[in-house]
Amino acid sequence: MKDILNASWMTEMIRTITNMYNHGWDERNGGNVSLMLEESQVAEYAGGEALRSIPLNFRAAELEGRYFLVTGTGKYFKNVQYAPEQNLGLIRIAQGGESAELLWGYADGGKFTSELPAHLMSHIERLRVNPGNRVVMHCHPANLLAMTYVHSLDEKKFTRTLWQMCTECIVVFPDGVNVLPWMLCGTEEIGRATAQKMQTARLVVWAQHGIYGAGADLDETFGLIETAEKAAEIYMKIAHLPLVNTITDEQLHQLEGRFDVKAREGYLS
Ligand code: 13P
Ligand code: ZN
Repeated sequence: MKDILNASWMTEMIRTITNMYNHGWDERNGGNVSLMLEESQVAEYAGGEALRSIPLNFRAAELEGRYFLVTGTGKYFKNVQYAPEQNLGLIRIAQGGESAELLWGYADGGKFTSELPAHLMSHIERLRVNPGNRVVMHCHPANLLAMTYVHSLDEKKFTRTLWQMCTECIVVFPDGVNVLPWMLCGTEEIGRATAQKMQTARLVVWAQHGIYGAGADLDETFGLIETAEKAAEIYMKIAHLPLVNTITDEQLHQLEGRFDVKAREGYLS
């Protein structure tokens, strides 16, 4: 077997998680990331006999046999680069979809993130929309979080405000952002609710908690959250000031044409 720490997907995962920490999105153990991998990507680094089996406590039958590199529960993003084997795990969803076989990682006896229901259920839904989806990412960016205290949680209003804050927002997330009200985290219920929201958008805000993003790779998913968070930052800088200018719906339509994207149906006048 080759050294798993040299796998390109492993180095990219560690770099992305470090970058998320450096952006201030992941205090303490805040946030979690899952990256779906093909057997062909994993085979030369791990596989065969499982180190141990970990119950999922929910069913993910659609993902049977699928491989995921996932952050560990209670683990600090700042530490991942220094001790990947303690802070990350490579799992394969077992037959029947009720447990995970650990192939590498969680070396101090740990397990995958408490938000695995939201991750796996979101993977299932995003794969239906885009078979190329590979990443689900959750974090706690300050401005998006702050916005959920002072802005309506209506999805259309929330999305339109973000689109108006930076010209490129509508290009990066034309499907907008969906929003869940405050719910208890780490549960199957919030997992189901998040996955349902993932049917129509790649970004799902958890009010007073954080955000979920989904995408084809780590860069794309990071970039989605980065763009939404930048827009929320601008909103938090201007929300208390008199608004003199904005990006109009007419200009948003021009951007649709220029960048060949289609804004979420019914969101522009
Ligand atoms: P975990 O440490 O279990 O990943 O939880 C962090 C978090 O952000 C919960 O929403
Ligand atoms: Zn969280």
